[in-house]
Amino acid sequence: MSSSIKKVAVCGAGGTMGAGIALVAARGGFDTICFDLNADRLATQQQAAAKFFDRSVDKGRMSQADRDTALGRMHSTTDLNDLADCDLVIEAVFESLDAKRDLFGKLNDICKAETIFASNTSTLSITQIAGGCGREDKVVGMHFCLPAQVMKLIEMSKGINTSEDTFQTAWQWTESAGQIPVETQDKPGFILNALLVPFNNDTIRAIDAGLATPEDIDLAIRSGLGYKMGPCTLLDLVGLDTQILLGEAFYPITLDVRASVPPLLRRMVAAGKLGNKSGGGFLTGATSEKASSAPAYEMVHHGQGRSFTNDDDFVKHAAVSAEVAVHLGGGYVKAPEKTAVLVELDTECLGYHTGEDLTEDTANTVGFARYRNGDEAPSPLIELVYKPHTSADAIAAARAVFEVAGFDVVVCKDLPGRIIDRLVRPKYNDALRFVDEGLASPGDMDKTCCMGLGYPVGPVARVTAGGLARHYEVSKALLDTTGLVGYSPARAAVVSHSRQLASKNEA
Ligand SMILES: NC(=O)c1ccc[n+]([C@@H]2O[C@H](COP(=O)([O-])OP(=O)(O)OC[C@H]3O[C@@H](n4cnc5c(N)ncnc54)[C@H](O)[C@@H]3O)[C@@H](O)[C@H]2O)c1
Repeated sequence: MSSSIKKVAVCGAGGTMGAGIALVAARGGFDTICFDLNADRLATQQQAAAKFFDRSVDKGRMSQADRDTALGRMHSTTDLNDLADCDLVIEAVFESLDAKRDLFGKLNDICKAETIFASNTSTLSITQIAGGCGREDKVVGMHFCLPAQVMKLIEMSKGINTSEDTFQTAWQWTESAGQIPVETQDKPGFILNALLVPFNNDTIRAIDAGLATPEDIDLAIRSGLGYKMGPCTLLDLVGLDTQILLGEAFYPITLDVRASVPPLLRRMVAAGKLGNKSGGGFLTGATSEKASSAPAYEMVHHGQGRSFTNDDDFVKHAAVSAEVAVHLGGGYVKAPEKTAVLVELDTECLGYHTGEDLTEDTANTVGFARYRNGDEAPSPLIELVYKPHTSADAIAAARAVFEVAGFDVVVCKDLPGRIIDRLVRPKYNDALRFVDEGLASPGDMDKTCCMGLGYPVGPVARVTAGGLARHYEVSKALLDTTGLVGYSPARAAVVSHSRQLASKNEA
């Protein structure tokens, strides 16, 4: 689609985001003014731009002639007056309401009347940034993802005073620059950060509670949900200091306790652990070898469990009698003479089966659950659950049994929801509520998560495929045991569960 925009300026073009946005504009065929207060940063950005386009030529994505033309379209300046005849100005200066308002106020006096101002803010309100600038109808939210020159997604939002014409013109420009826009609203964090900031904080609180190691949390999320990157890897990449800033920006506006800064995050930053940039964050680099041999196991069936179908190889390979007993279907019988007694768990804790008995009699008992989204095919993930007195030998035997059978195994404390449900259920509730409140269509919510975060399936499609009534049951069980509002089932889940109950009663 063609756009009336021909000349673009990027403010803060010497910064992380601005440099990438300038590449998008120049590559897309637009004259690009790169403005920054810091001339040294602009010089570095020009060199990085040449390298980026060189690599594109090497990879066959661009011809040498196109590379020269794109670079030739980029002009650096530290003089704001050079932006006078731009059709679109995209600001990516640091995250400060005052700085952004001040910039748009100055630009209003310099730029022609038609110029559209776009903000790349992650957390601030587009309406507030536009307020008092003199052309509130021509200000739009245009949130690129990092790195902007690679990630196609842009979250587009209108402030209260943004005109439809401005929004459509800006939208068309993003498409003509080869990007993929999704429409969202001027609400804290738009879609991506609204889902991600509380989710990442939940992960940090889980680590602080000793639920599991950061390495196991990441493995669980990758193996159980198929995310490309676990939350601890992402936090180390984004920077723990940045995560503090996000929490500090979100909590006062949303009053969502999950967005508030977790105490462990402050302790980590105080200790100089900022993530990859400081050479240390949550991940320690610890790796554990997968077991190469395992004891034999017997199966005890108490009913149909959720982990294995009867024709699953794991069930078929069981011995008649063995030193490890695997109880399926939620039943449990103490057997202190065995090396390990494994109890399949659903939404309940291990303590429910052992009666919170912490004597030697139950020290060989280990809970387990194979993660499965509703009735979808089970994942390769086994979560092992232990109590304070569980013996290391029992955990090692349980781990070996499942690892040798080809599963990914993580170990966690007997806390509600284990790893996956504890972390993902609040996100599903958020996603369902956000759809209800019009933040995005279900399709755009999922597209944003898949394109912006590398999820294989978006949260709305995933929770729906797993069954909204099932989501209600898991969420409600977690709400009952934790009292935490994030587990309060979203409206759609309540409706689905109520309808299921009603139809059962009618039958
Ligand atoms: N870093 C991310 O992952 C990310 C992702 C999406 C959006 N954002 C948003 O993008 C914006 C920029 O973030 P960043 O991480 O690129 O910051 P940054 O600190 O890397 O870059 C900011 C740049 O702006 C320049 N600058 C400061 N004040 C200026 C002014 N008045 N005029 C012109 N230039 C000025 C600085 O010299 C610097 O080069 C923020 O609003 C941030 O929330 C960041």
